[in-house]
Amino acid sequence: MPQTSANTDFLGRGEAAFPMPQRELDRLSQRRWILRYARKGGVGAEIGVFRGHFSEIICQTIAPRKLYLIDPWTKLGATFGWGKAYTADDTLPTAQARDEARARVTAFDEVEAVLLEDRFPACRDSLADMLDFAYLDASHDYAATLTELLALSDHIATDGVILGDDWQINPAHQHHGVFRAVQEFTRMQPWQIAAAGPGGQWALARG
Ligand SMILES: C[S@@+](CC[C@H](N)C(=O)[O-])C[C@H]1O[C@@H](n2cnc3c(N)ncnc32)[C@H](O)[C@@H]1O
Repeated sequence: MPQTSANTDFLGRGEAAFPMPQRELDRLSQRRWILRYARKGGVGAEIGVFRGHFSEIICQTIAPRKLYLIDPWTKLGATFGWGKAYTADDTLPTAQARDEARARVTAFDEVEAVLLEDRFPACRDSLADMLDFAYLDASHDYAATLTELLALSDHIATDGVILGDDWQINPAHQHHGVFRAVQEFTRMQPWQIAAAGPGGQWALARG
C-alpha cells in the first residue's frame, strides 16, 4: 500500500533522527508468521504499539477491518524513559512514536485504525467490539502481563486468539516474565498455547 509523500517524508525524517536498530527491523519479517493464527479482515488490537512497525505488518498481512492501537505514548512523559538503541538512548519523543504509528497505518485505506493513548487494561472500556485477535507486546513484566492477559480474555471473541511477542524460555532473559505469565494464564483459564516459535512469537486459543 503506497504511503502519501507527506507520510513518507515524515517517516524518513524519523528514521534518520531516531534510527531503529537493524536487528529489530530484521526481526519484523521473522515475526510475521504468527499472524496466520488470526483471521483476515477481522477486528483486532495491538497492545504496545511503539512506532507502529508491527502495526504495519498486521495491516499488510491480515488487513483487519478495524485495528485498535493501544499505547500510553505521551502519558509516559516526553520520552519513554527506557531503552538504549531501541529509543535512540531515550531521545525518541513519545509523540513522535505515536505520530509514526498513525502515519504507518493510515496508508491502509481498508483498515479503520483507532488509536487509544492509554495503558491497557485501564482503557478496556473504550473497546467497542469483541476482538478476533489481540497482539500483546506491552509491559513484559510477569505480574502486569498476567493482568493484561486476564483482562484481554473478556474482550476476545469465542473463536478469537491472543498473540504476542517476546517468548523467552531462558529465566535469565529480561522478558522471561511474558513466558511465565502465559504459562500461569493457561493454567488458570481455559486457554491453550497454540504455537510458540521463531522470532519469539506465541499464540493462544481457547481450549
Ligand atoms: C516493545 S514496544 C512495542 C513494539 C511494537 N509492538 C512493535 O512490534 O513494533 C512496547 C510498547 O508497549 C507500551 N506499553 C507499556 N505498557 C503498556 C500497557 N500497559 N498498555 C499498552 N501499552 C503499553 C510502551 O509504551 C511501548 O511503546
